[in-house]
Amino acid sequence: MNKLSATQLEKRIIWVALAFVAVLLALSALAINLFHVGLPTCLTDVKPFQKGELIAHSPTHYEVHYVARMWKFEPEDVTVPAGSTVDIYLSAADVTHGLILLGTNLNLMAVPGVVNYARVKFDKPRVYQLLCHEFCGTGHDQMAAELHVVDAATFAAKPKPPAAAEPTHPGYKVLDANLCTTCHSLDGQPGIGPTFKGLYGRTEKLRDGSSVTVNDAFVRDKILHPEAKVIAGKFEQEMPKTDLTDHEIEEIIEYLQTLK
Ligand code: CUA
Repeated sequence: MNKLSATQLEKRIIWVALAFVAVLLALSALAINLFHVGLPTCLTDVKPFQKGELIAHSPTHYEVHYVARMWKFEPEDVTVPAGSTVDIYLSAADVTHGLILLGTNLNLMAVPGVVNYARVKFDKPRVYQLLCHEFCGTGHDQMAAELHVVDAATFAAKPKPPAAAEPTHPGYKVLDANLCTTCHSLDGQPGIGPTFKGLYGRTEKLRDGSSVTVNDAFVRDKILHPEAKVIAGKFEQEMPKTDLTDHEIEEIIEYLQTLK
């Protein structure tokens, strides 16, 4: 048997190593093409956004700005026609979240202060589930959204949803800015905390067995000393303390009175 000299052996090892690298690159390229998912990129030159939206560039090219916040994705429901290329931009409004799009190999982190990006091409109609895969607090397991890929005819027939008018009341702005609306819905939907709808003026039972009417004094007390009067029942988790001025609390009280 021929004995290889040390130099020949080294050359062979180098060639084998190069061949492995080439195969790896070819497989990556194949995966990107096969699954239509571009390489995720962290964009440090794009300003993080706070508003989720779907932007149509052409009938087959869309851009989605996803905002991950405790504990939902905005927009929660996106519909695009089959055959579309979708540029996905992801930003975090509060803590670190994740985004995984089941059925594709899209997997991004939502990190406060930066925007992460990947491109996905959707060939066939189907419903994709979007989940948060980074533990982000009490509501982590409820953090999901849907992306619908529909055929062109269904897409054309889909009534465009009217832009949801955001409340303009200054009290709402205070609630939103302090993330109160993360736990308390405005429309009666159950949440981590009681809904704000119809809360003002209602009589609530407290954990200590006493009752309280939700009035100005209670709302003020609850915001300043959340641990003092805990509403009984499934909302026994303590509300976090928020630093608000007297004026801001008054604006909240005024706004709650409008949510009949
Ligand atoms: Cu967001 Cu887990």
